Amino acid sequence: MTTLGHGRKFLSIPGPTTVPDEVLSAMHRPAIDIYGGAHGGELMEITLSCLKDLKAIFKTQGDTYIYIANGHGAWEAALANTLSAGDTILVCESGRFAVGWGDMGAKMGIDVERLPGTWRRAVDPAQLEARLREDTTAKIKAILVVQIDTASGCVNDIPAIRAAMNAAGHPALLMVDTIASLACMPFEMDAWGVDVAIGGSQKGLMCPPGLGFVAAGPKAKAARKNAGLVTSYWDWETRDLEEHYRKYCGTPPVHLLFALRKSMDMLFAEGLNNVIERHALLCGATHAAVTVWAKGGAFDFNVTDPAQRSASVTTLLMSEGHKPEPIRAFCFDQLGVTLGLGIGDLSGKAFRIAHMGHVNAPMLLGTLGALEIALDVLGMTDASSKGGNAAAAGFLADHLKSETAS
Ligand SMILES: Cc1ncc(COP(=O)(O)O)c(C=O)c1O
Repeated sequence: MTTLGHGRKFLSIPGPTTVPDEVLSAMHRPAIDIYGGAHGGELMEITLSCLKDLKAIFKTQGDTYIYIANGHGAWEAALANTLSAGDTILVCESGRFAVGWGDMGAKMGIDVERLPGTWRRAVDPAQLEARLREDTTAKIKAILVVQIDTASGCVNDIPAIRAAMNAAGHPALLMVDTIASLACMPFEMDAWGVDVAIGGSQKGLMCPPGLGFVAAGPKAKAARKNAGLVTSYWDWETRDLEEHYRKYCGTPPVHLLFALRKSMDMLFAEGLNNVIERHALLCGATHAAVTVWAKGGAFDFNVTDPAQRSASVTTLLMSEGHKPEPIRAFCFDQLGVTLGLGIGDLSGKAFRIAHMGHVNAPMLLGTLGALEIALDVLGMTDASSKGGNAAAAGFLADHLKSETAS
């Protein structure tokens, strides 16, 4: 059987994402001295510049931390530095990840309450406000929410969540997971009143997995003083010390730091606003394609309200009688494109298209084009639902025409 999959493979999953060649090359050098010079030499400079530039990306004057960890590690760091066993946290459900963060807290001895939601819509700020108004003794110490839930494809309105907390006059810490949204859509930690933000290297930051980021504002740093859960590895206070070795509680992740330095240089060279605009356009193009394909009835957007669909990943929910696996298998086996699978509650019921990180128009159109071929060959399109990829290209062309005209 013919295979059209030879050539560069496309990894169109929502993390880890494609690592740019420049970032891969930046890692391709020998290790350097982790103690070099009184202040750690070149590596210390890289660490300090990365910590500073992470502040620019999180948009905060607070302190930033780099852990040798994945996103789960960053989650644990946030909880360990601010809470004690027996504290209560409120987890806002809009998919898998805030709930997963809460599950981690439960294993640490934290009492976890869930603000129930569905996988098809964003957290409702009014529901949050109502719950917080009931908490007259301020038993809830922290509110956990994701900006983009990578499983459901939903985006939460963080300023509206902060406004709900303020309206209820509630003093809890606001902790936001930006693992699937940082450098993909706007995030303004200080302006939005976020106390702790979490990020990871492997999505919008275009690096290999392995670095977890935490940004902590003054209220979170104050909470560190009474945090009973803190252990040596996560401790912000040790990492605030000057010695380089302390900043990582041991050997620094030398090559991942080379990668991070390069990836942030690339983001700044493009301009953060342009990076966000690129994501918004590629997301718009994906939505244009899906809107056409959905007319065929095999699947539709998982998130029902268009305003609540995320800029970095689109989750497609299969209709009754349709399975996502043949689509993914065809794209992978025949066309060299890996689409994201449905996870958690959407396992076996959904698939995902990532438009996140180091991706441009031809990469996205390649992915959408492969999907269009798969839908056609698998008999999942009819006359009404052909032409999704053309709709995506048309969306981008319209944008470029309007830019030229203005
Ligand atoms: C929004 C979000 N939070 C947390 C995580 C967990 O990160 P990790 O798998 O790096 O531990 C992920 C992973 O995909 C995610 O998308």
